Amino acid sequence: MDAFETSDEIAQIELHSLHLRDGLHIPEQLLSEAERQRAAGFRSMEARRLFVAGRALCRGIVGAIAGCAPQALSITITPAGRPFLPDYPEIDFNLSHTRNTVALAICRGGHVGIDIERLDAFSEAQAREIMPLILSGRELDDIHRLAFEQRHKTFLSYWVRKEAALKCLGDGFLTDPQHVILGADDTIIDIKSQSQAKPTSIRSGQFHGEETNSFQWATAVSKTTVEPIWQHHANLASFMRFI
Ligand SMILES: CC(C)(COP(=O)(O)OP(=O)(O)OC[C@H]1O[C@@H](n2cnc3c(N)ncnc32)[C@H](O)[C@@H]1OP(=O)(O)O)[C@@H](O)C(=O)NCCC(=O)NCCS
Repeated sequence: MDAFETSDEIAQIELHSLHLRDGLHIPEQLLSEAERQRAAGFRSMEARRLFVAGRALCRGIVGAIAGCAPQALSITITPAGRPFLPDYPEIDFNLSHTRNTVALAICRGGHVGIDIERLDAFSEAQAREIMPLILSGRELDDIHRLAFEQRHKTFLSYWVRKEAALKCLGDGFLTDPQHVILGADDTIIDIKSQSQAKPTSIRSGQFHGEETNSFQWATAVSKTTVEPIWQHHANLASFMRFI
């Protein structure tokens, strides 16, 4: 297994993105039989491509860390839909995708959740509609105090941090995002949950992808982490070199 340093207090995370440029073919043979069946069930070709790309990215990179071939990695899903590695409980991962980009967070020694959204993920009108469903009363008041141009950006940042936290917990939106209370410094949050996977450390930011796309991202981890570094991939050889 690769060196992937950790301690009782600090978890290590790696972040990877894969840009699905036109013409990039990800062979479904990299997936397990169950995943190939799930892929075949997608009605939307775009959703299928994102699913296949996410699982291939995960299998290529996590497989190398675990020391096994991509297809041999056993990935199970919780009843709430969260994928995990039954054979490697010390390694956790989480995936997020948006239009033509997939993001993968891998964590040793803790639980991790990730979310990415394009900066233009929703319009001003949509944001106004969704905000009261996601934000607590205090957060909503804070946002309304901001200058108009700042509101959209701030809401997107709240959104990805809350979704990453709920994905770390494993519930996704089965837990009310209004119950995720974010600390001002991004490091302390409170969620009404007793779970071991309760996130305590959030990292967030933006990256500029290919074709002028820009993304807001956040990771939430159940332990303290050092600042993660992104590795951006645009072809199969880039992430399959780990094998
Ligand atoms: C988790 C959730 C917020 C993800 O929403 P989304 O719009 O698909 O967002 P993202 O692209 O960021 O994430 C998708 C990935 O999150 C992961 N995921 C799915 N459910 C998850 C969960 N409960 N917790 C953490 N991660 C989860 C998967 O890897 C998924 O990608 P994949 O199916 O291609 O492997 C949403 O699916 C949710 O709230 N799920 C829980 C409730 C539910 O509807 N469960 C269905 C029963 S199976």
